[in-house]
Amino acid sequence: MGRGGGGHRGMGRQIVRARDARGSFLRLLRTLRGRTPWLLLIFALVISGTCLSLLSPLLLGRAIDALKVVKDGVSVDMEQLLRMLLFLLLVYVGNTLVSFLQGWLSAKISQDTVCELRRDLFAKLQTLPLSFFDGRTHGEILSRMTNDIEMVAQVLSRGVVDFFGSVITLFGALLSMLLLSGRLTMTAMVTVPFSFLLTKVVAKHIRANFLAQQTMLGLLNGHIEEIISAQKTVKAFNHEEQAIADFTILNQELRRTGIRARVLSGIVMPLMGLLNNVGYALLAGYGGWLAMRGDITVGVIAAFIQYTRQFSRPLNHIANQYNEIQSALAGAERVFAMMDEEPESADAADAQPLSAVRGELSFENVCFSYKEGEPVLRDFTLSVQPGQKIALVGSTGAGKTTVVSLLMRFYEPQQGRICLDGVPITQLPRQSLRQAMAMVLQDTQLFSGSVRDNIRYGRLESSDAEVEAAARTAGADAFICRLPQGYDTILSENGGNLSQGQRQLLSIARAVLADPPILILDEATSNVDTRTEMCVQRAMIHLMKGRTCLVIAHRLSTIRDADVILVMAEGRIVERGARRELLALRGAYWQLEQSQAALLGAE
Ligand SMILES: Nc1ncnc2c1ncn2[C@@H]1O[C@H](COP(=O)(O)OP(=O)(O)O)[C@@H](O)[C@H]1O
Ligand SMILES: [Mg+2]
Repeated sequence: MGRGGGGHRGMGRQIVRARDARGSFLRLLRTLRGRTPWLLLIFALVISGTCLSLLSPLLLGRAIDALKVVKDGVSVDMEQLLRMLLFLLLVYVGNTLVSFLQGWLSAKISQDTVCELRRDLFAKLQTLPLSFFDGRTHGEILSRMTNDIEMVAQVLSRGVVDFFGSVITLFGALLSMLLLSGRLTMTAMVTVPFSFLLTKVVAKHIRANFLAQQTMLGLLNGHIEEIISAQKTVKAFNHEEQAIADFTILNQELRRTGIRARVLSGIVMPLMGLLNNVGYALLAGYGGWLAMRGDITVGVIAAFIQYTRQFSRPLNHIANQYNEIQSALAGAERVFAMMDEEPESADAADAQPLSAVRGELSFENVCFSYKEGEPVLRDFTLSVQPGQKIALVGSTGAGKTTVVSLLMRFYEPQQGRICLDGVPITQLPRQSLRQAMAMVLQDTQLFSGSVRDNIRYGRLESSDAEVEAAARTAGADAFICRLPQGYDTILSENGGNLSQGQRQLLSIARAVLADPPILILDEATSNVDTRTEMCVQRAMIHLMKGRTCLVIAHRLSTIRDADVILVMAEGRIVERGARRELLALRGAYWQLEQSQAALLGAE
């Protein structure tokens, strides 16, 4: 694959906006519904904080006006000066308190909400059908649970409040200015169109560059992750140099976008400063002239300069904040989309759990496909008597595992039905159905925790002694005892510190512990060596006694004594019968045994 060349994909991507920003916003507000009083309090705090900020220039102006130039020097109205300075102090302290409270409250509310959202989303994840996971990468789902939720938290805690604060500050400052002096307001407005233009034009470029940088960073991360997780393959194929070359391309591109983004954003502040200073100069000049004529006081000019600052700050930020909210809403939208995914169909209303499972299974004309138009099982019919041992064989991709997945109701067949003890499995509660079976799969899933906990996963309420007995039955006891802490050895992520065969033995022990009426072994011993397999085999014979067993095996030696062997090809059963009968047929099964014997002979 031309990974290096593909590295520029997505470069031209624009800001990701929510498709239905208004809808997502309203829905986000709805998640806050239970917290209305807190929200109102926050907005009240924002408003009062803004009012306090708007008050301070006024007080400052008054304080300055306490000094009056008279003929022989400066006269000071001490009382007014002190009073204004005291007020000013109170306003500043009050403002600090208010913004602290507001920050604390919005952090609390947003984290509470996001915590709930995370909980709901995770719970939702557990209800989704496997087909949902088939169509998505783990990374995609993970990023929904983490990044997108984090974005929602941002928009809740900062975005909306800041935006609201900016808007009212803008209008408040404008109003105060107008009240103080209409003529000075006009002067102050002279530079506004320029700064507006500057933010609009430059900000667009900056945003595009930051976005490009972000995208590059994502690609770079993806590359690093891929190379790290594929380290063995990379080394095995001597692809280190290629990996470095690919990395270098991405790295250089990231450097370029990084520089551009920084330089551009570095330009804005000085330019803004320049514009602001021009504005001040105009104000000071014109204001000074007005003051000399006695139309206004010097205090008004001072207050005015402060107001223009309060006015221009939100003006520069609003566009950015708006964009931030937009992309956060896009994140929220993705979260909500996952919330709205169709869950696994509910258990039938009249579903009755089976009290005692006999273990009779039947598939009646089952047709199934994962993707429309690509049938995996075609007209699959099978009936298994309680206690029978059925073997499924056939080439890879024949549909053997799919049979098991349908039986466990991981997927629903499009046609036909599957019955357990004569009851269609759609009429059983899923829990009861799945409790009736234990699965041992080729790729064993282990969880972080001790060996003991992992075996106990088969039946959570079992005692330590039962766990150990199950391990002995499964033939896992010997290797567990050789582990440094025996049964209390902590397994790393998915049992990375065990061999595949050892992992399988653990999962067999799990099945032993679960002690179900139906046992499903899907290439359960494909990863253990022949000697261990023989041990396991003995354990299995013991385990299978008195249970209905569905055994999928690659090595035919393991299923010789099955009651019925089914040979599958392309989703159909092409042969069925006991081994003796199948060999006599000299058909597909016979061929399979022949080729395996030839392979073994060649070894
Ligand atoms: N989750 C899935 N989504 C789409 N196709 C799948 C999925 N699992 C299996 N398949 C396809 O279904 C066919 C049968 O797969 P499977 O039942 O696993 O075969 P077997 O176990 O006999 O090797 C294969 O062609 C495989 O590509
Ligand atoms: Mg399989």
